[in-house]
Order: sequence, then C-alpha cells, then structure tokens
Amino acid sequence: MAGQDLVMFDLIAKKRDGGEFDAAEIDFWLRGMLAGAIPDYQTTALLMAIYFRGLTERETFLLTDAIVRSGDRLDLSELPGCKVDKHSTGGVGDKTTLVAMPLAAALGLTVVKMSGRSLGKTGGTADKLEAVPGFRLNIPPEQLRRQAEQDRLVLISQSSNLTPADKRLYALRDLTATVDSLPLIAASVMSKKIAAGADVIVLDVKFGRGAFMPDAESARRLAELMVKLGRQAGRKIAALLTSMEAPLGRAVGNALEVWEAAETLRGNAAPDLLLLSLALAAEQAYLAGLAENRRDGFAMARRALENGAGYQKFLRFLQAQGGDTAALEQGGFLRAKTVLDVAAPRGGYLRAVDAAKVATLVQRLGAGRLKLEDEIDYQVGVWLEKQCGEKLAAGETLARIYAESPAQAAEAAEALLAACQIGEKPPAAAPLIYGAVTTAGFIPWAELQKDYQ
Ligand code: URA
Repeated sequence: MAGQDLVMFDLIAKKRDGGEFDAAEIDFWLRGMLAGAIPDYQTTALLMAIYFRGLTERETFLLTDAIVRSGDRLDLSELPGCKVDKHSTGGVGDKTTLVAMPLAAALGLTVVKMSGRSLGKTGGTADKLEAVPGFRLNIPPEQLRRQAEQDRLVLISQSSNLTPADKRLYALRDLTATVDSLPLIAASVMSKKIAAGADVIVLDVKFGRGAFMPDAESARRLAELMVKLGRQAGRKIAALLTSMEAPLGRAVGNALEVWEAAETLRGNAAPDLLLLSLALAAEQAYLAGLAENRRDGFAMARRALENGAGYQKFLRFLQAQGGDTAALEQGGFLRAKTVLDVAAPRGGYLRAVDAAKVATLVQRLGAGRLKLEDEIDYQVGVWLEKQCGEKLAAGETLARIYAESPAQAAEAAEALLAACQIGEKPPAAAPLIYGAVTTAGFIPWAELQKDYQ
C-alpha cells in the first residue's frame, strides 16, 4: 500500500528543512490524521512547518486534491445548464451572493450553492436567509433537482462529509496560529469549491481593514494561486480583487442584509453593492459561455436587474425553500425592538467607515456567533444612511442602529461614531474593484471598468 513505509516524524523534519512532498506523503498525512493514527500534535507541528516553509504550487495542488478526496463530492452533472458558483473570502456587509445568484439564475445559469452556518462577526449566507420566516436549507434531493430544473437556483446545507480533512485541519489551524498561510488558505477554500461540483467558479478575494488579506497585492497572490488550483481541477474560474475598507452597501446584520438585497433587486441599490453584484454575475455569464465577453455579461446582468427578472427569481427561490416573503415584499420585515438614529456630530464628508469596527459592534449586538451552537439575533445590525465619500450636514442621520434594547443601541451608536471619520475634504477615490485575476492574466481596474457600462 502506498505510504506504508512513511513515518510522520520524517515528514515534519522534511518540511522543517524545506523539502517538497509527493502525493503519497500528503495522502499518508491526511489519511492518518482522519483515521486517528497521526496525533494532532504531529499534524500541528507540520502545519507550523508549512506556515514557515510554505508549499510549492505542486504540493498545494496535491493537498487540495487530497482534501477533496477525503469526503463526498456533489455530483451536479445530471442537472441542466452550466452550474455556477461564487465564493467570497468574507467581508462586512457582503450580501452579493443574494443579489448575484438570482441574477445569474435569471440569465439561465444554474446555481446550486452550498452554505454552512458560519462563525464570525456577522452570519454567513445561510444565516442571513434564515432571517426569512420558514426558509430552510435542508431540502430533499428530489426537490434539489426539481428546483434546479425549474428555478435554476438552490441553496443547500453543506454535506456533513464534504472535505472532512479541511474541517479537521481548519480547526487545528485556528488553535495554533497557522490560519494565515497562503497555500493553506488556497487549498482550504478551493477544496470546498471543487467538491461542491460547479463548472464555473467566480471568487471575490477581499482585502483591507475588514478582510483576511491586508492589501491588494497579497489578495492578488492568493487569487492567483486559487485560480491555478481551479483550472488544474478542470473548472472555469476567475477572481475579482475587492476592497473591504468600508462595509459593502448600507446594511450589516442578517435581516437587514436580506432587506438590502431585495431593495437592490427592486432597483434601489447602493452603488458599490450594485457594481460588485453585476460584475460577479457578468463574470459567471462570461465564463459559462453565455456572454461573448465581459461587457455583454455585464449588460445582460443589468437587464435582468432592471426588468425585475432577478427579483422574481429571488422571491421564487425563497418561497420554494419554505420562505414566507410577504414582509419582504410589503414591508414589516425589519422587526428589531429598538431602532435608534445616529446623527452626524458635525458636517463634512464621510471620509472612512472602518469595516472591522462596524463588524465588531454588529457582533456585539448579537448578529454573529463565536461558537457554532450560539443562537444569533437575525434582527439586529446597522443601516448606513451615508456611505463613505458622501457629504452630510451636522445633525443629519448618519446611520440607524437596530438593537434588542435601548442600552445596547446606545452602546452601538457610540461605537459606530468611533468607526466613522468625518472631515472637510472628500476621501481620495479608491476603486472598489482593484482588478481581476483570470486564467489569461491580471486585468487592472482601469481596463476592467471599460466593460462595466
Ligand atoms: N476560509 C476558508 O475556508 N479556509 C481558510 O483557510 C481561510 C478562510
């Protein structure tokens, strides 16, 4: 049997000294870890060696492939159309999935997306959608097929046996300060995307105060690695690199973000959220071969928004999965006990809204979870009446806090003011989208924006 002569001690020493693993060695490690034959202290020692020594591209590919093979894979081959997926490395107020997915479905692409409950400052997509009364992720396989055929849009819970090696590795990385390793992040994200079975994958790799990656250059390196991994796995793939200095759009918090997504699809959109959602749907349409080029893809996505087809898809999808959309359509969807307006302490331009600080205050209001079993409050959060760069007068409403109690709202209002900078001059304009990493190379914003008309 391959790997029978291997010893974990030797693998740790090899990586410590800068050696390169082959497929048998990586398989031996992951199989042994999952079977309990390799103790956690040896896996974590190896993770730390990888953290310092890195992995070559070939090793990263082998690791990704071994993680994919460690569990189930979703087989979407029997479903109609081109299956598309998107993934964001995580941002504050990032509800683009809720806008771009219905637009892609309205264009005729098939979106079957897995979503797990997430840990973090605000909820994941599944948590946000659970703010819709009755909505459920757990749907039987026959419904998945029917919904994919009829509506082209399905959201399902993550199979408990999808990439089990990643679950174990991630839990250990989280406890041993080894999360921040480019090859480990790339293998972790891409193994899940590859196992989820889509033909087309569009990534949104975020950088800045509210993101994993500190700057555009590190985001680009991560994106280039992930795009290579996707291509090697036979997928059509591209990544947008996007700034996460300020929250995306106006809402941060679960029900508030669903409301903002519905508003966006009804044509009342914040410009940054609209641009990124259309760009993501356009990239999917282009990679799927539905649009001849990115420009056509963008125009098609915009039409699907303007003619209401995206909004209808969104409602249909929520209803098909048990959601009661009456309040989302007619109002009354936002039901926090306390709503507090936050007034601008002085006039000027809103120069910065610190995404990380907003995320922390929204988590303190109860919108995010620290442990998977924590209950979250769907109704709490922040609605930014003003976005970065906008002018405002003293006393004008800057934001609205949705909270469980007046005391919590007051505390959050103070934290929000501390997250905002108001000054006399407008902030230097920095594009939301820094560029795109594609299999044909990097496209800077200056080029990309010509297609986003
Ligand atoms: N998200 C993941 O899924 N994995 C990582 O390693 C980091 C972020």
